Amino acid sequence: MADARASMDPDYPRIHVAAPVGRLNDPNGLVEIDGRFHVFYQFSPFFPERRLVFWGHATSTDLLHWENQAPALAPDQTYDRTGVYSGGAIVADDTVWFHYTGNVKHPDGTRETYQCAVTADLDLAVLRKHPANPLIPRQPDGYTAHFRDPQVWRDGDWYRMCIGAQREDETGCALLYRSDDLLTWEFEGELTFPGQQERFASLGYMWECPNLVPLTDEVTGESATALLFCPQGIEFADDLGHSAFVAGYVVGQVVGTEFRQAGPFVELDRGFEFYAPQCFSHSGPSDRTIMIGWAGNPAEDDQPSLADHGWVHTLTLPRELVLHAGRLRQRLAVDLPTTPLSEPDRTLTEETWLLDELTGVRSFVLDLHLTLEADAGCDIVLGTATSDAVLLRLAGGELLVDRTASRYPLDGRHTVQLPPGPGVQLNIVHDASITEIFVGDGEAVFTMRSFLGPGVPQVSLVAHGRVIVAEARASALA
Ligand code: FRU
Repeated sequence: MADARASMDPDYPRIHVAAPVGRLNDPNGLVEIDGRFHVFYQFSPFFPERRLVFWGHATSTDLLHWENQAPALAPDQTYDRTGVYSGGAIVADDTVWFHYTGNVKHPDGTRETYQCAVTADLDLAVLRKHPANPLIPRQPDGYTAHFRDPQVWRDGDWYRMCIGAQREDETGCALLYRSDDLLTWEFEGELTFPGQQERFASLGYMWECPNLVPLTDEVTGESATALLFCPQGIEFADDLGHSAFVAGYVVGQVVGTEFRQAGPFVELDRGFEFYAPQCFSHSGPSDRTIMIGWAGNPAEDDQPSLADHGWVHTLTLPRELVLHAGRLRQRLAVDLPTTPLSEPDRTLTEETWLLDELTGVRSFVLDLHLTLEADAGCDIVLGTATSDAVLLRLAGGELLVDRTASRYPLDGRHTVQLPPGPGVQLNIVHDASITEIFVGDGEAVFTMRSFLGPGVPQVSLVAHGRVIVAEARASALA
């Protein structure tokens, strides 16, 4: 799937979409057609020399094995000449439409942004920029040229578009447009938060990648909408730490241009790298809402794979988004079968269990159900025979993730709250240099790039006190 330099890299993942060469960022135009999944992504093939942005393209029939296709869109028009920026897909009759932002950056740092369309037949063999481009030639009055990342969906008789924006006073927001033909767009206004305008007015200087996602609460049966977005420039802080680049959500009800009864703003992922998520639009019967994020952060490109093998960044695994009593849960959307590593209820007391089956395995899934006796703790060490590279420490109702001893130590440590109770369920997918940890039933997810030390990889559990391993299952990823 990758270019020669990347595919020779032991850090190149097996089941994650990754840059074949150069740089990858946001997932774009996620669409399922007749059982085939298409993932487009922000792609800068000449990075780090130049940051010219194309759309890369990968396809899969099982969401696990991805095949890279030729880049789908190039920055070859006057209205998108420095970048074919992010956007989404929608299927209308037998045509797939993509709306994206054409970015034009000038040497003095100013920019122009154009909202544009692309169409394709259902086989997605060729994507054609529409002759009517740019469809929205500038931002409305009162807003700056930080105006990008359109998402289009069907709302009754209309198509609607939500775009990330910045007001002239340099605060972030989302703007709404509507259309009856996907080509002519009428400005409806800003997405407002009745009764809570103040709370949202000061949330960041620009909102990137807004996505309105309709969901039915699996507990209450009520319909609601989750607004996923990335407010730039906030230092999101709670009692467990902070992140400088935040992708989060609020749940509420969309009525016209109002987002009513907005709940709290919640961070989507507790890990080090997670940004710009998007959900699949589908033409088929699938009623699952599947999200993929970028396992990276803006301006954090200095990873070992770039210098050594000429590529940087991956996407996350696909996750099913489920609304559960007003909160989002993320469940792995793919089936990764595992086999038991030991009899259930194996007890570890002040001892280390080296998981022999995973020695030498660079990509694996590890499912653990652990019960910690009072005051006990348990370390899960993803390391090598000579170094403990990434430490996952369960203790005191929290999961502490420490990557300071890895080859990519940026940010050091993060903490995740565990669901209450003595039992901990962890579903860990480690794929060469990316680790995703699903906690409990997806109540918390933790994504990080994990460049382990050189040498033979190995995994061990270290019990501090008494730890009952109710279940330990694993398999290598092929
Ligand atoms: C988010 C983002 C988007 C933009 C794209 C450019 O990471 O900055 O707002 O469309 O990346 O590559």
